[in-house]
Amino acid sequence: MAEVIVTVSGKGGVGKTTATANIGMALASMGLKILLIDGDVGLRNLDISLGIQDRIVYHFNDVINGMCSADSAIVKDEKYIGLCYLAAPQNITGAEVNKEGFKEMVDKLRPRFDYIIIDCAAGIDDSFSMCAGAADKALIITTPELISIRDADRVAERLESMGITTVYLIINRINIDMIKKGDMIDIDTIIGTVAVPLIGAVPEDVGIIISNNKGRPLVLRPRTRAGTAFLNIAKRLTGEKVPIMADEKKGFFSFFARKR
Ligand SMILES: Nc1ncnc2c1ncn2[C@@H]1O[C@H](COP(=O)(O)OP(=O)(O)OP(=O)(O)O)[C@@H](O)[C@H]1O
Ligand SMILES: [Mg+2]
Repeated sequence: MAEVIVTVSGKGGVGKTTATANIGMALASMGLKILLIDGDVGLRNLDISLGIQDRIVYHFNDVINGMCSADSAIVKDEKYIGLCYLAAPQNITGAEVNKEGFKEMVDKLRPRFDYIIIDCAAGIDDSFSMCAGAADKALIITTPELISIRDADRVAERLESMGITTVYLIINRINIDMIKKGDMIDIDTIIGTVAVPLIGAVPEDVGIIISNNKGRPLVLRPRTRAGTAFLNIAKRLTGEKVPIMADEKKGFFSFFARKR
């Protein structure tokens, strides 16, 4: 029976879709059955990160409205047997989606998967209430910028008010050189500001941009630091004890080991 996880952020462009694609691919590579649902109504792009944009015929609103079966709308990854994707509609807004219908659809799909991850749009409006309303747990994504961190804190409050209490923080696009120079907010400050436990930190990596363009998540190349970071987040989600950034014996990331 699937656990349903939503990836959220207050600020846009912080890496929700990248995290969803990479964590989903990592979980599938462990032999788990994964469904990634694109919850970014009107502006979907998880299909591009997964490289399956040419195979989409139906979207989840077609399933909710009875236009097609879930099986017709779900696209299976050709390489990873366990990885499936369900697209968001592009021709309507989040306000037009039947949110109860969305939750019902997600609940019906639970028995077929180990994890369902919903990639939410930024902010706390319609996409947020639809996606979070169907989820058990949440991953809040932030970058090490004040604007993003403050918004992450608002999102955490909103999730709590919706009764979602299992929430983890991912700090994305960390630049160690900038932290060393004092040009980027350090990890302890972020953890202190957003009262949500850290599940992973992902370095800034140009490989992420390339992999998003190629449609093959970087986690498929686990020797990269960002790929390793996403793989470790996936392992922690399954309950495996993996020290944060275990590859870093010294330096700023050693803070993480002490925090957990
Ligand atoms: N760790 C990283 N290193 C380098 N680039 C990254 C990293 N994470 C994400 N990016 C880049 O940042 C941009 C935004 O990422 P992404 O689309 O995943 O964010 P998002 O939060 O889903 O955005 P939106 O709010 O628009 O849905 C993309 O160009 C992506 O390639
Ligand atoms: Mg996105």
